[in-house]
Amino acid sequence: MITRSGKSTRYVDSDVLIIGGGMAGCGAAYEARYWGKKLKIVLVEKANIERSGAVAMGLSAINLFLGLKWNENKPEDFVKYARNDLMGVIREDLLYDIARHVDSTVHLFEEWGLPIIKDESTGHYKREGRWQVLIHGESFKPIVAEAAQKSATEIYNRVMITHLLMDRDHPNRIAGAAGFSVRDGTFYVFRAKAAIVASGGATHIFRPRSVGEGAGRTWYSPWSNGSAYALLIKAGAEMTQMENRLVVTRFKDGYGPVGAWFLALKAVAKNAYGEEYERKYVEEQRKLYGNYVDSKPFPTCLRNDSMLREVKAGKGPILMHTEEVLNTEEKEKEGWEDFLDMTVSQSIVWASQNIDPKDRPAELQASEPYVMGSHATCAGAWVSGPEDLSPKEYFWGYNRMTTIEGLFGAGDTVGASAHKFSSGSFTEGRIAAKAAVKYIQDHSDFAPHLDDQYIKELKGEVFRPLETYEIYKNVIVRGSVSPAYLYPNQGVLRLEKIMDEYCGGWGQFYTTNSVLLNRGIELLGMLREDLPKLAAENLHQLQRAWELDHRVWTAEAVIRHTLYREETRWPGYYYRSDFPALDDKNWHVFVNSRYDPYKGSWSLNKKSMINLVE
Ligand code: FAD
Ligand code: ADX
Repeated sequence: MITRSGKSTRYVDSDVLIIGGGMAGCGAAYEARYWGKKLKIVLVEKANIERSGAVAMGLSAINLFLGLKWNENKPEDFVKYARNDLMGVIREDLLYDIARHVDSTVHLFEEWGLPIIKDESTGHYKREGRWQVLIHGESFKPIVAEAAQKSATEIYNRVMITHLLMDRDHPNRIAGAAGFSVRDGTFYVFRAKAAIVASGGATHIFRPRSVGEGAGRTWYSPWSNGSAYALLIKAGAEMTQMENRLVVTRFKDGYGPVGAWFLALKAVAKNAYGEEYERKYVEEQRKLYGNYVDSKPFPTCLRNDSMLREVKAGKGPILMHTEEVLNTEEKEKEGWEDFLDMTVSQSIVWASQNIDPKDRPAELQASEPYVMGSHATCAGAWVSGPEDLSPKEYFWGYNRMTTIEGLFGAGDTVGASAHKFSSGSFTEGRIAAKAAVKYIQDHSDFAPHLDDQYIKELKGEVFRPLETYEIYKNVIVRGSVSPAYLYPNQGVLRLEKIMDEYCGGWGQFYTTNSVLLNRGIELLGMLREDLPKLAAENLHQLQRAWELDHRVWTAEAVIRHTLYREETRWPGYYYRSDFPALDDKNWHVFVNSRYDPYKGSWSLNKKSMINLVE
């Protein structure tokens, strides 16, 4: 038995501490080594970086590549594209910064062995769409991880970070992070001069579509648990756009992505009666959402909105006509490879449901909402931009530094900057690491000091679920039902139900209002009251317990932001039935929030959206 005090504590010193070894974390390790040749770079990952994060299963495309050396796109074009897709609200400085650097990352991936498919006539990378290039990407993550393995001084796999640690003498300065080994229960305390949070997005905040035998299946990685947000929120960092959750159109049940089918294979989605529907509602949409309906391509959320209108009108299921496009052996291979490279589960669902995509169409469905900052969505931390691009409102010294001194973010962690995807997240890790190294060099007299008493208490808190289980395990009413504790899985189900029913999940057709949201906040508060009674039978469940804690913090930010923004800016992601229209006069702004860890209270405010690109 591992008790609160029974397991050893291990202190690890570092210069740069990277939390999360996914795309952004690996990018950070690589770049930190380049700029900080002699620095001690420590990367901590709750799984194993070889196959961790959203790219664990592999990918079939790199969704952000400009093709600068072939004059295919300009950074400004990308900024405009992402701005339109996010209905006008985006940090243009952050996106321009990604766009000007992302190509070099993609060329590095190729150099390291990632097969990028070429257009035989031009020798350029073969395009899936304007921004996307096709890859044979089943082994994408191990290839990227190798670069991080060669760069980091030490990598701690299977260590989950539960808390950030602030400096004893400077309350708004990062000094490290704490967590535990999921393998042997060691309590880890990492001291750091600068830290980069790169711990991915959040699934299982809202009730998934999948139930029963498919339970747990989601489109975004099921283990993405919102640490990127919760760690920052609990430490008092300013967050932005947390209301901007992502709903994606996916092949039903397997959650297979649609991009390659729409863009490369040019398949068309139609309603049950064979009618195309995407532009059918444009005039109604224009009245509610303004001229954003004229954006090309049609924004992701509006594509969802059209589909949801069609389903509400009883014209579902929505069908992707795969059978119309898989008319050559090469295209059939391309279609299957899309999923065998990236979402094997979709191939399995098709096989198990007797769907051969070359013979019959396949159903599409809108997913449950996800919280993330790297896809067609931009929840996350409010960070400083680059010195040469950012207006003073967006710049406070170091690129990608959060509002906590010495604490940086990248990938899904960073808000207001959508459409980064795998390549942009790795690039942002590089950008953040360069700035973190500079920060360390500029503050060379700083040594982190932790509050020993706090660390002792924290250890007790982190391992408490194991002790709760040991004490109360015999007080069982029936099966796994105990009057004395709750299991992490029970807590997740409760969280998902609250968020689905009160914060605009699929169960409510993504619709909510202030009455529902206020009640949701109350119910979340009651769930939070029960979290100290979480029980864990083993270290695996202890990890689930802390993942739940992080999910609840993330959810609370989402629900508070959703309440604050009194408009419907992203129809198809969620609707405020009490404010059904987009309102550019009052809400063409970022919604930011801050949790004050000393007072235990939240505050929200508006931040200006400054246009830099015409
Ligand atoms: P991740 O890569 O998810 O990394 C986060 C890491 O943090 C993980 O390794 C996780 O285990 C770790 N972690 C989390 N919490 C903790 C903690 N508390 N302590 C320690 N470690 C922690 N992008 C494309 O470019 N092209 C595509 O075709 C494409 N398709 C996709 C298809 C699917 C099915 C999915 C799921 C994603 C797809 N993406 C695609 C998006 C891309 O994967 C993400 O944009 C990218 O991985 C985000 O990078 P990240 O580093 O922020 O998060
Ligand atoms: S993935 O990340 O899981 O692969 P998805 O398949 O939705 O996501 O999208 C892949 C890329 O194609 C993204 O850049 C997305 O914005 C784009 N995309 C998907 N569907 C469309 C569409 N109908 N029109 C324009 N772009 C699209």
